[in-house]
Amino acid sequence: MAEPVRLAVATDGVTKVFGRGGNAVHALRGAFLEVPYGELVMLVGPSGCGKTTLISILAGILDRTEGRCEVLGVDPQAMSQGALTRWRGQNIGFVFQQFNLIPTITVAENVAVPLLLQGQARRRALAAAEAALERVGIADKRHSRPTQLSGGQQQRVAIARALVHEPRFVVCDEPTSALDADNGQLVMELLAEIAVQGDRALVVVTHDSRVFHFADRIVRMDDGRVVDTRTQIADRTARQHSESP
Ligand SMILES: Nc1ncnc2c1ncn2[C@@H]1O[C@H](COP(=O)(O)OP(=O)(O)OP(=O)(O)O)[C@@H](O)[C@H]1O
Ligand SMILES: [Mg+2]
Repeated sequence: MAEPVRLAVATDGVTKVFGRGGNAVHALRGAFLEVPYGELVMLVGPSGCGKTTLISILAGILDRTEGRCEVLGVDPQAMSQGALTRWRGQNIGFVFQQFNLIPTITVAENVAVPLLLQGQARRRALAAAEAALERVGIADKRHSRPTQLSGGQQQRVAIARALVHEPRFVVCDEPTSALDADNGQLVMELLAEIAVQGDRALVVVTHDSRVFHFADRIVRMDDGRVVDTRTQIADRTARQHSESP
């Protein structure tokens, strides 16, 4: 008999209502999503269809209104605030659509934050942060402030921060939106290498068709629901873009 597929994410009937009464916004209207361990799932769909809302719920940074949600075997919403914070710190990496870097500390300190929150010694955390910055190709900016960086450089810092603690579940909101074709390919290759393994999984929200080939499945959302899931044989190598202008 075939082994049952082990799921990193299992959600069903997830709804999210922001506000109430006449101002209520139904951001999710019963979303179904399954992400097997070892897979890279891309989430696509028009602006406002609920992509950021859904991945925020998966990452335990937003509560759902209704429905079922299990991530890495637990329901984030069932945990106490303290347990949830620890769980997120150990298991979740998040690349925010707006990067959310802390402007008053250096790039290396930003990347070290997940390790410092886990109680790691500062010197060790900063060394790991510098290694992560090296991998995204901007170690030379480690002493800069985030505001001194270009959008694409800030995006790579946000990716280094999401991966530095080697989390089991990583969610990325448009991680290549500010990157040129070559850096987009390299960043996806790095994300896949670190976040897609037997006991890990990666969900990437993207509009960027140049990176679709990295995905095991492409999930399309519309108006708060998942409307289509397409599986494919992933090719997780960066493709050369020599046909540039
Ligand atoms: N905090 C909030 N309060 C009220 N409404 C919200 C909030 N966050 C999101 N929404 C609304 O929920 C809906 C879904 O938003 P969401 O950010 O999930 O869309 P999205 O698919 O990520 O869009 P985009 O591609 O533009 O990033 C939108 O109508 C949005 O206006
Ligand atoms: Mg969004």
